[in-house]
Order: sequence, then structure tokens, then C-alpha cells
Amino acid sequence: MTTIADLPEIDFGAADYLAAPLPTLAGFAERFKLGRSSRGIEIFDYDLCRDTILNRAFGTGHPRLMNVLGLPEGPALNYKRRSISFHNRGETRRRLRVPLTTLMGPEGSERFRTDIRGVVRKTFAEIATDRPVDLIHDLCDRIPSRVYCYWINAPMEDADFVSRTSHIVQQVHTRNPETTAEVTQGFENLLEYVDERIVLARQNPGDDLLSDLIRATDAGHLSPDELRNWVVKLAEANTDNSSHQIAIAVIELASRPEIWAALGADPSLVPQALREVMRYHPRSLSTSRETLEDVVMDGVPIPKGEAIFPNIGAAHWNPNYFPDPAKFDIHRPDKPAHLNFGGGIFSCIGRFAVTIEIEEVIAHMVVHFPNLKITRSAFSHSPMFTSVTELKAVLNG
Ligand code: HEM
Repeated sequence: MTTIADLPEIDFGAADYLAAPLPTLAGFAERFKLGRSSRGIEIFDYDLCRDTILNRAFGTGHPRLMNVLGLPEGPALNYKRRSISFHNRGETRRRLRVPLTTLMGPEGSERFRTDIRGVVRKTFAEIATDRPVDLIHDLCDRIPSRVYCYWINAPMEDADFVSRTSHIVQQVHTRNPETTAEVTQGFENLLEYVDERIVLARQNPGDDLLSDLIRATDAGHLSPDELRNWVVKLAEANTDNSSHQIAIAVIELASRPEIWAALGADPSLVPQALREVMRYHPRSLSTSRETLEDVVMDGVPIPKGEAIFPNIGAAHWNPNYFPDPAKFDIHRPDKPAHLNFGGGIFSCIGRFAVTIEIEEVIAHMVVHFPNLKITRSAFSHSPMFTSVTELKAVLNG
């Protein structure tokens, strides 16, 4: 019988992974369904990843993550413990998600589209078009943090604080205890900020997401503490992931001039092009779970309490599911679906809204900047994420 110790080991610090992470993952996916790494069990097979993401035998990996980081007792850890991420499968998790999945589901998010388009236009109007600009700072960070400000009816000037703090608190996923002090302070700043915004929104209710969440609270669907934790959670999960995925989309699409031109000629192709971006180069290279009971996966016994990582990058580059995975093809069938947003009762709450954000950014760019030239770009890849560390471009290249 195969045991965990017999599984092939992937070293995320190895030169081949760092130089070419997705082809390296594809190599694993072609040969193995499961592997192991220093963080736990890695799943390389698409169907097995999907099943693990959805299956009731697997729960949240978040509490273990906080142990790895050693977050000290205090407001940050209290928030984490009570936020959605710490709630395992069950009635509380389901109840907590209902107001959000209603307000931010496909239809709920669609009602943000016109205002998101306004944020995109305003942001581009402030960017120089005739010389190299830093698109991470001027565009990718600003769009999601300004959209967050719009959701909570805050002044757009707060967007810099929101994006900076989101980047800081998302460092939890580095699993590096050296970030703990900064992360703790980041959460404390965010908690204070959100408390102030809720007081202001209660004084001046409007037609925004925060006011809708306050109304859901007053109707008894959330407690005041749960409301606050959600508003913090939205900031935590929003800007960092979205900024990187916008940057990835700009790089993957604009560096292929024939595709950029095809999208400019027919922007209705943008949604399918973005699906391929999220398959080919997902922001989420993995998500995490923990076994809630003893399980057998692909014939391998895995005990309760084991850290499990559905390896989304490997699944997306598995040739058994995505033929010729290294080919960037915006005309791929939409099934199998990409796993960039996880799934089931843990799925990304912002997936519809952020897809609209990225669609609006790209649709604007392909029409207004057909000659965009990327002058510098760089990626970095951790086991968890694709990050864009540099993106300079001339919009009117
Ligand atoms: C492109 C940008 C984004 C990516 C790639 C992304 C990806 C993910 C992934 C992989 C998960 C875990 C899903 C699972 O394990 O099944 C997740 C969870 C979550 N995301 Fe996103 N996300 C993005 C943007 C956003 C935005 C814009 C928001 C909110 C405005 C958001 C809110 C959340 C929340 C609240 C959760 C936790 C859900 C739960 O535990 O029930 N995300 N996201």
C-alpha cells in the first residue's frame, strides 16, 4: 500500500520550480495525482483537486495557518477566530455566507458594473499615456481598493490605505512568522478603520454594499460583530488578490499583440480571454484544506488533521484535462472550469465582482490603448500565489 512517505516530493524552493513553476507543476500532474511538500499533501490531479475543494471530509486550513504564524492574543487573532475563515463546514458558516452570496452573487455583482466602469475610467484618466508608468501602483492596486471604497461609501482617498493594508495582511499566506508583527498591526489598523466606517454608514445610510449589510444586520441575519468581521474580510481578501490578477491579465494579454488586437476589434471576447488567463496563469496556485476525518485518497491513507493543498496550478496545466496546456488559447471550451476561486461552501465571495472589475479594465484598455507597450514586467511564484512584482508600460506605446 502506498503511504504518505512514498509520495513524490515537490520542493517549491527548487530552481526548476522558481524558473518555470507552471511547466514544473504540469510535469508532476502528468505523472502523479498526489505528492507531498514541506507544507503537507499536494494534489496535482484536476478531478481530485475539485473533489477535495468540495468534499465534506475536508475543512478549513486557516486555524493551522495562524498557529504556524504564531499570531499573538489580541484584536487581530480575535477577529481571525470569529471571521468566516475559521468556521468549518456547518450551519454557522452557511448562515454567515448567505447575506454576502446574495449581495455579491452573479446578479448582485452585476449591479456594480456601471459604477465599476466609472472607477476604471476615472483611474485611467489620471494615468500618463505617453511615457512608461508603474501600472501596479497607478492601476492594479487602485482599481480594487477604489471599488472597496465605493462599496463602503468611503472617500476614494482612502484607497491607498486599503490597498497597502490588504497587501500587508495577505502576508499570512507566506507562512513566515517574520511577517507576524506587521500582519497583526495591519489587522488592528483595518479593524479600527472599519469600525469608523460602520459608524459613519449608520449615520448616513445609502445605496451601497455596506448599507445593505447594515440592513441585513438590523434584520437579524448577522450580529454587529459578524458585520464588522465581514467588512474587514472584504478588505483583507479584496485588493491584494485582485491587483495581482489584473496585472497578470494585462501582461498575458498585452504581450500577445494578435490577441490584444482581436479583443480590441471585438471586446465581447474579453470574458473568455480572462477565463483563459485565469486557467493559464492563476493568481491562486493552490488553496488549502485540512482533513476532518481519516480519508483514503487515490489509495493513500491520510489521517485526520493533515494539511492538504489542492494545487490549482498543477490542475490547470494537467494535459489530461486541458490539452496542450502551455498553449494560451482564448477559444478553449469553458469546461472544465478553472479553480482560481476555489469552490463550494469555501468559494471566493468576490469572484463575480472581481471578474467584472478585470473585464472592465481589459475592455477599456484594448479599445483605448491598442498600442500598449509593456516595458518591464516580472512575476514571482510562491506555493500559494502568482504575484506580479513589476509592471511598467507605455499606454500609448
Ligand atoms: C482575482 C482575485 C481573487 C482571487 C484569485 C481569489 C481567490 C480566492 C480563493 C482561492 C479563495 C478560497 C476558496 C476555496 O478555498 O475554496 C477565496 C476566498 C475568499 N475570497 Fe477571494 N479571490 C479574489 C478576489 C476576492 C475579492 C475581490 C473578494 C471580496 C470582495 C474576495 C473575498 C473572498 C472571501 C471573503 C473568501 C473566503 C470565503 C469563505 O471562507 O467562505 N476575494 N478567494
